Amino acid sequence: MPGQEGKPRIVIYGMGQFGQLIARLATEKDWPVVAAFNRAGPKIGQDVGRLAGLDRDLGVVVQDFETADFSALDADVGVVMHRDLLKDNMDAYRRLIGGAGLNVLCHGVQSYYPACHDKALAAEIDALAKSKSVTFSGSGIWDMSRIWSGILAAGPCTEIDSIHITSLSDAEAQTHSLEQMKQFAISEPVERFYEKGIDKGVIAHAFKSVPEMVLIALGYDVIETTSVVEPVVFDEQVPSRHAPEGFFEPGLCMGIQMRSKTTTRQGVIGTATVDSRIIKPGEIEAMYWSVEGKPRTRLHVERLDSAHATAANLFNRIPDVIAARPGIVPVFEMAPLRHTSRV
Ligand SMILES: NC(=O)c1ccc[n+]([C@@H]2O[C@H](COP(=O)([O-])OP(=O)(O)OC[C@H]3O[C@@H](n4cnc5c(N)ncnc54)[C@H](OP(=O)(O)O)[C@@H]3O)[C@@H](O)[C@H]2O)c1
Repeated sequence: MPGQEGKPRIVIYGMGQFGQLIARLATEKDWPVVAAFNRAGPKIGQDVGRLAGLDRDLGVVVQDFETADFSALDADVGVVMHRDLLKDNMDAYRRLIGGAGLNVLCHGVQSYYPACHDKALAAEIDALAKSKSVTFSGSGIWDMSRIWSGILAAGPCTEIDSIHITSLSDAEAQTHSLEQMKQFAISEPVERFYEKGIDKGVIAHAFKSVPEMVLIALGYDVIETTSVVEPVVFDEQVPSRHAPEGFFEPGLCMGIQMRSKTTTRQGVIGTATVDSRIIKPGEIEAMYWSVEGKPRTRLHVERLDSAHATAANLFNRIPDVIAARPGIVPVFEMAPLRHTSRV
């Protein structure tokens, strides 16, 4: 149960840019951050408030997650702001769920719906959470802008033939460095895209789970999803805040395009065309859902302030995760996201 005055007591696992943003949001809302963990390095031993850029100490020091004692934690939820792949986050889940008995809300892209990505690890996480009577969920910017927008777009339909999402994400907005953008070979020659195996990489293909999740949420039985990932290249210079010269030359890899198709037993098809790349001047991040059926519906979502948005989507899910049933509970099984502006 939440602590004093119903305020969720939060543990942060991973004090990178988004872990720090969660610390700032929690402090604004007066939700206590009771512990924070990171890998070994200069962040260990620093006060969470100072590290997160606040002008005061919170009295909570960042601990090394390899040596810390998780069994003594008294909290309601552990937010995992660490890595994208389930396999890279399993130690965090084992420590927070198995060791501390906490609900877990993870920011990694595979955690929105683990079974889409790794059925064996999904089963392990689900069993672990159920054994401790706690919830595991994943949230971030997809929650409102991709998942719930798709569910809402289909809401008025009395018949559905197909659903499709086209989207443009600013690969730069949610990254803190050129190095981080190179996970999609951004700024590198196109050959590096293929040498790095990004066309086969699980993170780029993770976008395929979006139509799959929405179809499952709409009550359809998914048969399979196929996807392709290709580099995006411009024939003009584009400005970038991470580029050493302030812009990237034409001909380099500027991001990825993923296209996917999901089939269902009921014959309804879900498709996606997702661009995650450097955006050109004048472009904005946007998601566009179209549902073919009766009636046909369209929903256009613009994403502004997307670095704040991804942390805030997750932050606002904290009360839902604490209240949810045990096991893996994807956000599409919860209510639409609710704001915390009056908290
Ligand atoms: N769900 C979504 O929609 C969404 C949106 C945006 C981002 N994300 C994901 O959220 C996660 C956190 O993002 P961020 O920008 O805050 O990341 P970050 O600042 O690079 O790092 C987050 C944490 O992971 C650690 N870390 C980074 N690289 C590591 C490695 N190779 N091995 C071990 N530990 C490593 C960092 O340790 P140090 O501090 O010591 O470096 C830090 O504790 C990422 O996986 C990112 O892709 C999800």
